[in-house]
Amino acid sequence: MRPHVARLDTNAMPWTPGDMTGLFSKILSHDPKTGARTALQRIDPNFGYKAPSAAHFHHMDEEIFVLKGRFTFDGEVWLTAHSYCFHPSETVHGFKSALAEESWFLSRVSQELDFNFVEKPRETTKPYSLKDAPGPRGVSVVPDPQKANWQDVQNKAGKVVMQRLVLSQHPQTGEGSMLVRFLPGWESPYGNHFHSVYEEAFVLDGALEAADGTVYGAGCYSFKPPRTVQSRLQSERGALCYINVGGLLDFVPAAKL
Ligand SMILES: [Fe+2]
Repeated sequence: MRPHVARLDTNAMPWTPGDMTGLFSKILSHDPKTGARTALQRIDPNFGYKAPSAAHFHHMDEEIFVLKGRFTFDGEVWLTAHSYCFHPSETVHGFKSALAEESWFLSRVSQELDFNFVEKPRETTKPYSLKDAPGPRGVSVVPDPQKANWQDVQNKAGKVVMQRLVLSQHPQTGEGSMLVRFLPGWESPYGNHFHSVYEEAFVLDGALEAADGTVYGAGCYSFKPPRTVQSRLQSERGALCYINVGGLLDFVPAAKL
């Protein structure tokens, strides 16, 4: 499991040159045992970045959430700010990759990233699996979450205080990714509590305030391993967050630890 990352302000972190020309990274969390990691990545044609010229696959799940820019894996669907995609391990993709402008995205991989080109991919631009029996969490591409079907979440008084959009989810374990919009004035009904599964969050817009005084503004990142105690959260002016969870989210009062 990755170590606890209480709060990182990614705006204040420097870019580190990656292993490809024109690729820069900010490593946000990393599991030294498995190589699983989340990084903020910047690919920049002005610094010589060239999109991969052929289809490829990885031996690990790859998940991308775009913060800004414009690029494509298939020459048809262009990914822009807040676009999302999930490629399970051994999914061939990137048939017609192209980069229109400097782009930033959050990249999550479930193990150390490898890169395998496919010399003769199938005659398609749609991702396909090399596995005989692909896992239950399939490819997900959400180019424009704004247009998707968000779910309203009400408080006890029946007022809508939050909206949620699941981007990709394992149908059995609940592990997955979502966008959560906390409406202005939202207050968590839970005091000091923890979850039985990991919770990773990146604030895209607005801010969340914790009862212990921590403020998570736009660009702030956290990774909470299972059973990490957190204090009550609220959002005075609202917030939009990209959240990844290790399974269905439970809320256990911290007193039970
Ligand atoms: Fe890839």
